[in-house]
Amino acid sequence: LAEHSNYEEIAYLLLFGKLPAKQELKDFTRKLAEQRQLPKELVKLMKIYTKTANSMDALRTSVSLLADYDTNLSDLSVEKNLERGIDLVAKFPTLVTTAYRIKHDLKLVKPKKNLSSAANFLCMLLGETPREVAVKALDTDFILHAEHGFNASTFSARVTISTLSDMYAAIASAIGTLKGPLHGGAAEEVFIMLKKIGAAENVESYAENALKKKEKIMGFGHRVYKTMDPRAVHLKAMSKKLAEDTRNFQYFSISEKLEHVVVPLLKEKRIYPNVDFYSPTVYNNLKIPEELFDAIFATSRISGWVAHVIEQLSD
Ligand code: COA
Repeated sequence: LAEHSNYEEIAYLLLFGKLPAKQELKDFTRKLAEQRQLPKELVKLMKIYTKTANSMDALRTSVSLLADYDTNLSDLSVEKNLERGIDLVAKFPTLVTTAYRIKHDLKLVKPKKNLSSAANFLCMLLGETPREVAVKALDTDFILHAEHGFNASTFSARVTISTLSDMYAAIASAIGTLKGPLHGGAAEEVFIMLKKIGAAENVESYAENALKKKEKIMGFGHRVYKTMDPRAVHLKAMSKKLAEDTRNFQYFSISEKLEHVVVPLLKEKRIYPNVDFYSPTVYNNLKIPEELFDAIFATSRISGWVAHVIEQLSD
């Protein structure tokens, strides 16, 4: 899927349980593009709380406020939840990029109907038309993060909806859980670590010192995978490709060296790079600021969360 699909197709697969036919994908993609715009009153409110909030806190608050625009919250039918889910998948990139631009006093960029989710995200964030190579990389990143079974944030969403609460409450729970540094927050921590290391020649001493002090190497280890996370394989290849494209190898070379040094040291515990290990170098080369690393994860994972909420309610 990472090699041959696109994020819209994966979101459809997750929400509807089957891959779309050509026309279905076209209609779904158009629907997502048409629903990107946020209610004007919400943007007004965002100008207050996003000024000081962390990007995940801002996103969680925005999702809670979106519930107020839903006139029939107690309708938990599949049809209604699919409608809400599509709306959330469409609006997440707008919520994240709008919050960022407000926080940093940047002029807001309107969502573009003619762009894919990944291209629109980059365009709204950076205020410029993204290059093909950047769009392809972010689209693949979105595919890789869209769904991952019964992880911690998905578990939160399922617990919340299992009380017959509502979609927005379930998604707000999931965002709160994803924020932690042992889950989606790990990517930002990895980048902080890479900056601290500074250069490939410092990797050995950093890793040995950290492990001696029983500190965790962020971006390593997984509750389920006891081998290299298969998503990390794709992210590593993308990270290398983007480093070649931008001729910026600084963080890729530190990451690659860290992998070579740490894997043998933690071999007995079967700890290997996970999905968050190479994504920071991908984002850095896409000019995405580190404060958004976790929110990008949420922007993609929303499709998986919605699918789980609907599945939980179905039985
Ligand atoms: N670096 C160094 N040691 C690690 C480690 C890491 N990233 N992850 C786990 N370990 C060690 C623990 O210290 C522990 O050692 P001990 O048995 O000597 O006490 C052992 O491995 C088991 O750790 P535990 O936390 O119980 O494993 P887990 O399977 O429950 O945890 C994670 C999985 C993901 C929470 C854990 O690996 C972690 O915190 N990783 C770093 C954060 C991260 O990258 N999260 C993103 C996950 S996709």
